[in-house]
Amino acid sequence: MGLLKAIFKNARKPQGFGSHFFLKVMNRAHKKISMWGLDQLEIDSKDIVLDIGCGGGINIQRMLKRANMVCGMDISESSVAVSTSLNRKEIAQKRCEIKLASVAEIPFSDGMFDLVTAFETVYFWPDLVENFREVRRVLKTNGKFFVCNTLNPEADFSKMKFWIDMLDMEKAARTDYENVMEEAGFTNITKFGKEDIGITIRGENV
Ligand SMILES: C[S@@+](CC[C@H](N)C(=O)[O-])C[C@H]1O[C@@H](n2cnc3c(N)ncnc32)[C@H](O)[C@@H]1O
Repeated sequence: MGLLKAIFKNARKPQGFGSHFFLKVMNRAHKKISMWGLDQLEIDSKDIVLDIGCGGGINIQRMLKRANMVCGMDISESSVAVSTSLNRKEIAQKRCEIKLASVAEIPFSDGMFDLVTAFETVYFWPDLVENFREVRRVLKTNGKFFVCNTLNPEADFSKMKFWIDMLDMEKAARTDYENVMEEAGFTNITKFGKEDIGITIRGENV
């Protein structure tokens, strides 16, 4: 259990030996939930998007096929390195920029983005209401925030117990992210859950 915990703590913040390999595996392992979430997004070819907690960067790569520009950020140096390598062509074309930072202080200007996405990452954020307010700061008026999680607080967690224990995420998994969005000032909040896949929550910065 100790060794497994040490390996899987990479999901919270990938770092050190094996973290680049772990991130590439995570890019594949999250394909089902990511593709399901991305299918729900309307992205215009003029849009500027930010993916927070970008991990191995595969969702940046996917959204770059639809948006004008996609930025990424992550608290982990390894995540930034792997995401940067995967998206190097678009970085050279200045359609992508990836920064090392925490969601607590997003290193982008006020009102810059049409869409901010967060795939499988909000479980690990340090102060949700404050962090969601910080997301609002970088959104344009009418910009959207999109959260996509495997864990639905209303679902039966028995099948996911291994992961919840492994990542110490019982409380985060049970959080009602709709309420957090409301408290942070988002409006037109909608939630969509699908059994055996996950849940998406979106809010607007009206
Ligand atoms: C489980 S991974 C998900 C990666 C990717 N979004 C995906 O769906 O495959 C969680 C990511 O969130 C990042 N993360 C955790 N806390 C963060 C924070 N406070 N600010 C920014 N990123 C954070 C981690 O470093 C990690 O890369």
